[in-house]
Amino acid sequence: MESRGNWGSRVGFILAAAGSAIGLGNIWRFPYLTGKNGGALFVLIYVGCVLVLGLPVMLAELALGRATGKNPVGAFRAIRPGTKWHYTGYLGVVAAVMILSFYSVVAGWTLGYCYKTLSGSFRLVGKSEVAVIFSRFIASPWLQLLLLALFIFLTIFIVSKGVSAGLEKFSMVLMPALFLILILLMIYSLTLPGAERGLAFYLKPDFTEINGRVFLEAMGQAFFSLSLGMGTMLTYGSYLSKKEKLVSSAAWVAFLDTSVALLAGFIIFPALFSQNMAPDQGPGLVFAILPVIFGKIPGGVIFGAFFFILLALAALTSTISLLEVPVAFLIDEKKWPRRRASWLIGGLSLLFGIPSALSGGGVKFFSRLPLFHVDFLSLWDKVWGNIALSIGSLLIAFFVAYVWKTAKALEEITAGGARFRLARLWVISIKYICPLLILVVLISQFF
Ligand code: PFF
Repeated sequence: MESRGNWGSRVGFILAAAGSAIGLGNIWRFPYLTGKNGGALFVLIYVGCVLVLGLPVMLAELALGRATGKNPVGAFRAIRPGTKWHYTGYLGVVAAVMILSFYSVVAGWTLGYCYKTLSGSFRLVGKSEVAVIFSRFIASPWLQLLLLALFIFLTIFIVSKGVSAGLEKFSMVLMPALFLILILLMIYSLTLPGAERGLAFYLKPDFTEINGRVFLEAMGQAFFSLSLGMGTMLTYGSYLSKKEKLVSSAAWVAFLDTSVALLAGFIIFPALFSQNMAPDQGPGLVFAILPVIFGKIPGGVIFGAFFFILLALAALTSTISLLEVPVAFLIDEKKWPRRRASWLIGGLSLLFGIPSALSGGGVKFFSRLPLFHVDFLSLWDKVWGNIALSIGSLLIAFFVAYVWKTAKALEEITAGGARFRLARLWVISIKYICPLLILVVLISQFF
C-alpha cells in the first residue's frame, strides 16, 4: 500500500495550510463581495465570522483529521461506524470537485491577465478600455476553455506527485513574495487622489444596510477563505504529526489569511474610488481595476505581470488543496493509486467547469429555472462556495460537539501537553454558537 505521506516540518504545514486558505478567495472574492454588500459593514461581519465561527471550526477540522489520520469520509466513519455521518464527508468531496470547477475558471483569468499585462494590452488605457478588454476576454469560449484546462492540468500535475514534495515546497517560496507585492500596491493605492473616499467605504460601516444576505455572504466568505466546511483542513490535519500544536497553527493560518484579504481591500477600494468606478460590479471587479493601476504606474507592465503570476500561484496552492480532498478519499477508501485518483477527479472538475467557463459569453444554462437567471459561475460560487460550505461547517461543528464530544476533541487538541487557554470558549462556540448561528443565517435566507 502507498504511504499517505506527512508534512516535513511545522512551518511547512502552516505555509501549506495558509497556501490553501490564501488564494482567489482573498484577492478576487473578498473585494467583490465587499463591494457588492456595501463595504465596511460586510468587512466587520466578516472579521467577526472568522473569529467566532472560522477559528473554532478550523480547530475542530484539524483535530478530527489528526485524531483519525483519514480523509473526510474515512474520518467520520472511523469515529461513528455504521451511521450516516460519513455523508458529511461525501458532501465535502462533491463540494471540492464543484468549487475546483469554477475556481479554476477564475484562476485561468489570472493566467490570461498575466499574458495581457506583459504584452502591453493595458499600457496607457483607461477604465472603459479595460472594461471592454475584460468582457471580450470572458466571452471568448475557446480561450476560456483552454485556460481552464491549463489550470486544472497544473493542479493535477502537482497533486499526483504527493503531499510533502508537491505542496510544501511550493508554498514556502510563494507566500512571502505575494505579501510583499500586496504591501507595495497598497502604498501606491493609498496615495492616489480621492483614496480617502475608498477608505471611508471600506472602513466606516453604515448600519442601515444590514440584512440577512450580508450575513450569509460574510459567513460563507469566512468559510470559503479559510478553506473550511468540506474537509480540506481535516485532510491537511491528517498529515500532521502529534507533536504539532493545533491551536497556534490554526491561529497563524487565520491571521495570515485575514491579513491578505484586508490588504487586498486596501488596494482595491482606494483605487476604485479614485477612478470614480462602482464598487458593486460583481466577479469582474478586480479585473476591472487592477489593470488600470498597472497601466499608470512606472514599470507597471513588469509589476502587473508579476502580480498576476503570483496570484495564479496563490490560486494554485488552493486548487491543490481542493483536489487533495477527493484524491485522499480515493486513496484511503478505494485504495486507488494517487496518480489515477488525481487524473480522474481533475478530469471531472474540468467537465463541470465548462458551463462556468462559457458563462461569460452570455451562454445561459437552464435559465428558466429559478436561481439560474444569474450567470453560471456566480450561481456555482453561491451554491457550493457559500451554502454547501456553510452546511458542511454546521455539520462538522455539530458532529464534534455532540457525537464525537468536545472532551475527545480537546484531548486531541492538547495532545503531547500542548496548552489551550481558551478551551472553554472553544467548547461554548462549537457547542452553541456555531450550530445556532449558522442555522439561523441559513434559514433566514428563506424569508
Ligand atoms: N480558501 C481558498 C481561497 O480563499 O482562495 C479557496 C478554497 C480552498 C475553498 C479550499 C475551500 C477549500 F476547501
